[in-house]
Amino acid sequence: MDFFGRNKGGERALLVQPHPSGRIDPEALTEFTELARSAGADILDTLTARIDAPNSRFYLGTGKVEQLRELKEAHGADLVLVNAALSPVQERNLEKALSARVVDRTGLILDIFASRARTHEGKLQVELAQLKHLSTRLVRGWTHLERQRGGAIGLRGPGETQLELDRRMIANRVKALETRLDKVEVQRAQARRKRERGELPVVTLVGYTNAGKSTLFNAITGAGVYAADQLFATLDPTLRKLDGLASGPAILADTVGFVRDLPHDLVAAFRSTLSEVKTADLLLHVVDASDPNRNERIDQVNAVLADIGAGDVPQLLVFNKIDRVADLAPRRERVDDAGHERVFVSAMQGAGLDLLRDAISDRFVGTRVRQSIVLGHDQARLRAKLFKAGVIAGESADDNGWHIDIDAPRAAIEPLFGLPDGDGARLRDHLKLPESEPT
Ligand code: GTP
Repeated sequence: MDFFGRNKGGERALLVQPHPSGRIDPEALTEFTELARSAGADILDTLTARIDAPNSRFYLGTGKVEQLRELKEAHGADLVLVNAALSPVQERNLEKALSARVVDRTGLILDIFASRARTHEGKLQVELAQLKHLSTRLVRGWTHLERQRGGAIGLRGPGETQLELDRRMIANRVKALETRLDKVEVQRAQARRKRERGELPVVTLVGYTNAGKSTLFNAITGAGVYAADQLFATLDPTLRKLDGLASGPAILADTVGFVRDLPHDLVAAFRSTLSEVKTADLLLHVVDASDPNRNERIDQVNAVLADIGAGDVPQLLVFNKIDRVADLAPRRERVDDAGHERVFVSAMQGAGLDLLRDAISDRFVGTRVRQSIVLGHDQARLRAKLFKAGVIAGESADDNGWHIDIDAPRAAIEPLFGLPDGDGARLRDHLKLPESEPT
């Protein structure tokens, strides 16, 4: 990938981990370090900073700024990454005081998104979010910093050529992007309606970044999408047909990996991408079973889901990477009396995928009717009504009558049981559907 090529050796970076509450959170630092590495940074040193009240000029206290400057000189760093949302003014003041580029948490995440965007829509969304983030930071006199090096963290991606433009041109570009995105969104909605007409259930993968969604997506669909041991290997939802379910085919959607505290303007930028999550019939919530913090990750993903209005979509928990945990074998188990389940798999080794297919299928069984029935020649009226209802996938005729393949959602079939003149009752007899409705 271009991204990796451009960053051989990485940028020489210092990390600053502020603790706004004064309480050190080692997990936040680990995550930030991984994000920085994921962006290709070469991390020289890390500084923690207790923040009781953020300094309006620098965010950090002036003592810390001085300490940072010394560290920067000592290491010859050219980039400072701060794990906080800095105001444009704070970022600028820090850059001046440190004579180094400063990128905040949002800028870093945007940069990673920019490197990972794969689809047209994803690229547009990232460019838009980047431009909005940058436009508040564009001032005369700061360009000397990013000219030092091409493809610098926080300045890469579709937005990088825009940096030279003035605010008005950026505003025009933002407008044009918004218009194009609106169009893409319409296309996406049309495509979704088409899928819905096809009545295939949609299963969407969600999970904390690096949980193994793309690997599972490949393993279970046999598709060759890109997966890498880096955060955000996936940005855009990728749709594939999921075969091999007893309930019939479904659509599988892969989505962007979540991180905790996903900046809100990013959630907004990805609203249409994330709509694949909201409108899914089932979410496969992928969890890295080998992650000691897996329970917090589950909560964080659920928090993002609630945030984007997908809190009520049914979920199946998939504990992945069991090959990395001693004594874990593929299995399927109930987690409570409400019928919630989890399945233990290893996407990498292909273990437990049959159990997963069964669990998915069980969610959909009964939601679709696929049966062949034989209607005698005296049942032409019922046959005509079935055609009219659009529930017939195919038919052939012989001396016994019509051999009709019914293929339709159960919800479309059940009302037909009320057809007059005995036709409804006849259809019910032919089909003999199981009583129980699935959850
Ligand atoms: P994002 O796109 O960042 O959200 O990541 P993702 O959830 O799509 O994860 P991805 O599939 O890219 O996998 C992340 C890393 O975990 C890769 O290095 C995979 O090879 C590894 N991985 C995925 N599944 C398994 C597994 O079952 N076992 C082991 N040991 N590693 C796995």
